[in-house]
Amino acid sequence: MTQRLTPKRISLTQYLIEQQRSHGNIPAQLRLLIEVVARACKRISISVNKGALGGVLGSAETENVQGEMQKKLDIIANEVLIEANEWGGHLAAMASEEMEGIYVVPNRFPQGEYLLLFDPLDGSSNIDVNVSIGTIFSVLKKPENSAGATVGVSEADFLQPGSQQAAAGYCVYGPQTMLVLTVGDGVAIFTLDREEGAWLLTQDGAKIPEDTKEFAINMSNLRHWAPPMQRYVEECLAGSTGPRGKDFNMRWIASMVADVHRILTRGGVFMYPWDRREPKKAGKLRLMYEANPMAFIVEQAGGAATNAGQRILDLQPTALHERVSVILGSKNEVERVTAYHRENG
Ligand code: AHG
Ligand code: MN
Ligand code: MN
Repeated sequence: MTQRLTPKRISLTQYLIEQQRSHGNIPAQLRLLIEVVARACKRISISVNKGALGGVLGSAETENVQGEMQKKLDIIANEVLIEANEWGGHLAAMASEEMEGIYVVPNRFPQGEYLLLFDPLDGSSNIDVNVSIGTIFSVLKKPENSAGATVGVSEADFLQPGSQQAAAGYCVYGPQTMLVLTVGDGVAIFTLDREEGAWLLTQDGAKIPEDTKEFAINMSNLRHWAPPMQRYVEECLAGSTGPRGKDFNMRWIASMVADVHRILTRGGVFMYPWDRREPKKAGKLRLMYEANPMAFIVEQAGGAATNAGQRILDLQPTALHERVSVILGSKNEVERVTAYHRENG
């Protein structure tokens, strides 16, 4: 056979169609949904890249439902995702970090079978300093009512454990723009080819090593954590002369997307634990559109994700914007941190 002069790259569309043919796990509406989200991320990436030239940096001077100041890009990314997804007929409703209630697909458009949740812009504090940021999304099937009909949609329809996700992914806007996707059959990574405007598969079957010597946590909060969390980090800091008998490295980007992406690439453990300053708050990160999609991806790559007690994907959500403590990444470290918490009751 003659050698090809053009290297063969698989596009996102081709990947999704091949997945459907070989595993039957991507029905047409789900494929459309993933392609539309990917297209929206491409638009967000363009805005991110323009930065000051596009007038997208800085604060919007408004607050979201979580009491956080919104950046212009938080709002822009939210609008892009809604506008791209509302008319295709694949969704019944959407939910976002930046919206208090759910966004039901308007009556003028057909209603689809799926529910989409997203953190439109993750790592907002990094926008203005030109550090990697991202978009995180989670896809659920709208539950059928007892009669099997699918009439109407409510917030309660979204409150499904993460194990029910049909797909999850994130896009990282960094030196390269990448889309990381799982439909429950491993993790595929696509890189945006800006000249072609296409998402091309650059890694299939991403795997997180079970062991690691790298941890990620906001160390400035150490004095506020629970004793098992302090113990774990102190043991890492003690290095080769401490109980772990090896030196650890630390990284903290403050964009969950970028920290998780590093872990997906070379292993590590990411932690955003409970903190005694606000004891009633389980953590900082949100279960439904940050922890669940990331936990799904991490598990699909052979890693683990817990809330320091239970598997994140088993948690039954009680509210759209519920917060959760997050420990995820290399399996053996996640199990160790979780075990320290269990020992402590
Ligand atoms: P968001 O920008 O969507 O509100 O999320 C920010 C999150 C997460 O991306 C990151 O890991 C964490 O907040 C950073 O928190 P610190 O500011 O405490 O480092
Ligand atoms: Mn976020
Ligand atoms: Mn956000």
